[in-house]
Amino acid sequence: MQKEIFEQPIVVAQTLKSYLRPLEQKVALPQMDFSFADVPRITIVACGTSFYAGMVAKYWLEQFARVPVELDIASEFRYRQPVLEKGGMALFISQSGETADTLAALRHARAEGQKVAVVVNVPTSSMAREADLLLPTHAGPEIGVASTKAFTCQLAVLAALAAKVARDKGVMSEAEEREIVEHLTEAPAAMNAALAHDEEIEAMAPVIAAARDVLYLGRGPDYPMAMEGALKLKEISYIHAEGYAAGEMKHGPIALIDKDVPVIVIAPSGPLFDKTVSNMQEVQARGGKVVLISDAE
Ligand code: BG6
Repeated sequence: MQKEIFEQPIVVAQTLKSYLRPLEQKVALPQMDFSFADVPRITIVACGTSFYAGMVAKYWLEQFARVPVELDIASEFRYRQPVLEKGGMALFISQSGETADTLAALRHARAEGQKVAVVVNVPTSSMAREADLLLPTHAGPEIGVASTKAFTCQLAVLAALAAKVARDKGVMSEAEEREIVEHLTEAPAAMNAALAHDEEIEAMAPVIAAARDVLYLGRGPDYPMAMEGALKLKEISYIHAEGYAAGEMKHGPIALIDKDVPVIVIAPSGPLFDKTVSNMQEVQARGGKVVLISDAE
């Protein structure tokens, strides 16, 4: 798993190669023979870590492309008789391309007349074969059970997809597209810089390791990131963890906070920073230990 974590800058760069045209400063999807202009709604379905990547994509697609997005866990979607709009697109996200619930959900969506798009890491998988629009991640084999590099590669593809949908729908300017391409091009170097904090993270780990419960907080796209962080901790450390929308903490979970519950706050600089920091101060007022993940700014 550690090896796969450190592979992220390289495999994300590899993945982005198929989705960006750096000279023209444009996003481009492979095997694209249709426009997203007329897609009225997108339904995203996945399991586990791939589901959290899908939740980040919901924020991006709605913010950038102004397209309504529904999001579901595959094991719920396949049994809940979802109402799918004619002409809609269903997007399935999976590292393996074989997760039984996601595959069954894909077949259900197809039977309901949806255009099927798939973000998948294994190009020979069942989901890859059954896709109308195949969006591969190039993370290489992921052996660790807890997904790491496949997740960040999924995010890279989903960011490019959101920009492409936005452009096709005419709601993103060329200048905005250029800005996204620039940010995505910088992502591998930014990941390298984040990985350079390895020793500090290791030094801090005993604070978390001693805890019985850990809370992760984030806002906007960092809310699914908080849930993904909590999932990772549960899966790998057997420590109970919950990811919460930072603004929701006051509606219950704040009661759990004391000096024994570390709270990991994800708050990059930007419009939501001050709001999240005020939630962080509520945690500190209750004696909670805070680990803040932010940027230099
Ligand atoms: C779980 C794994 O069993 O399956 C998770 O532990 C993974 O890490 C999830 O995210 C979904 O898998 P996939 O291959 O469909 O992305």
